[in-house]
Amino acid sequence: MRATAPVRDPAGRFSWLKAAVLVFALSHAVVLLLRWQAHDLGPRPITEAIHVTGLWAVRFLLLSLAVTPARAVLDWGRVVMLRRMLGVTAACYAGAHLMLYALDQQWHWLHVASEIALRFYLTIGFVALLGLTALAVTSTDGWQRRLGARWKRLHRLAYGIAVLALFHYAIQSKADVTGAVLLAGLFAWLMYWRVLKRRWQQKLWPLVPLALGAAATASVIEAGWYAVRNHVDPLLVWSANLDLSYGPRPAVWVLIVGLLLAGVAGLRRWRRRRGALPRGAVRRA
Ligand code: HEM
Repeated sequence: MRATAPVRDPAGRFSWLKAAVLVFALSHAVVLLLRWQAHDLGPRPITEAIHVTGLWAVRFLLLSLAVTPARAVLDWGRVVMLRRMLGVTAACYAGAHLMLYALDQQWHWLHVASEIALRFYLTIGFVALLGLTALAVTSTDGWQRRLGARWKRLHRLAYGIAVLALFHYAIQSKADVTGAVLLAGLFAWLMYWRVLKRRWQQKLWPLVPLALGAAATASVIEAGWYAVRNHVDPLLVWSANLDLSYGPRPAVWVLIVGLLLAGVAGLRRWRRRRGALPRGAVRRA
């Protein structure tokens, strides 16, 4: 049970890494509360709070999915102990998100339920929330032992939940899906890494095609979305990726993040080869 304490590592020692991530996880809720108190959430504070909590729910969900690739790609063993905290944080922000929605509906739960049943984007958000809750509840060591091999299979549902959450995000975004496309591109990177051959998952060279593939996926999703929903010519949307005058488009950001990751992974390997970061030391650091 010691290992499950929020700021202790599996050996039961205080972990600065876990403490920092816990502070990071809580900080967004604290900032939201402070902004609420200071009347700094704009003309529709509850709607703004719904958006902030929804965004952090999906971001923490993707961060929890990034743990396994981070361990392999960056040779960073200790990151694994953050997975549960990141996943539970995602579920907590998603729970707060629903509560804020119910508050916005003056706690008329019957109305909340009928809206969830009738509006497609709320229905898929609800299914994602149910899934996140199930994963958070069963994330403990006890449930892991009880479920045995089934635990891993159950927790693979996190990928499906992420797809639902991203779809929910995109549908409610209406005119501008930039944020949702960016996260969808990063999610595509995670999925492509997952389906790589096991022996390639720790290699450096696949990171470049992965970055290109994820960026291409983001650009296809964006162009497809605007073509279907707004009847915009996909070529126009694609060509916008080459025009940086209004800042990089989401696909370009995905490429930048993917290549940066490849750079960091390469640097860590180079330092290890030079002896600055012996393999074991990297794992212990
Ligand atoms: C019963 C479950 C849920 C309900 C009732 C719900 C409801 C809502 C509502 C009302 C909005 C704002 C729509 C608007 O302003 O027009 C929203 C946005 C959003 N929701 Fe949910 N949601 C649910 C579950 C989830 C889950 C599980 C996630 C993520 C894991 C999520 C992520 C988001 C995101 C990212 C946004 C957009 C934030 C932004 O645009 O800045 N939601 N949701």
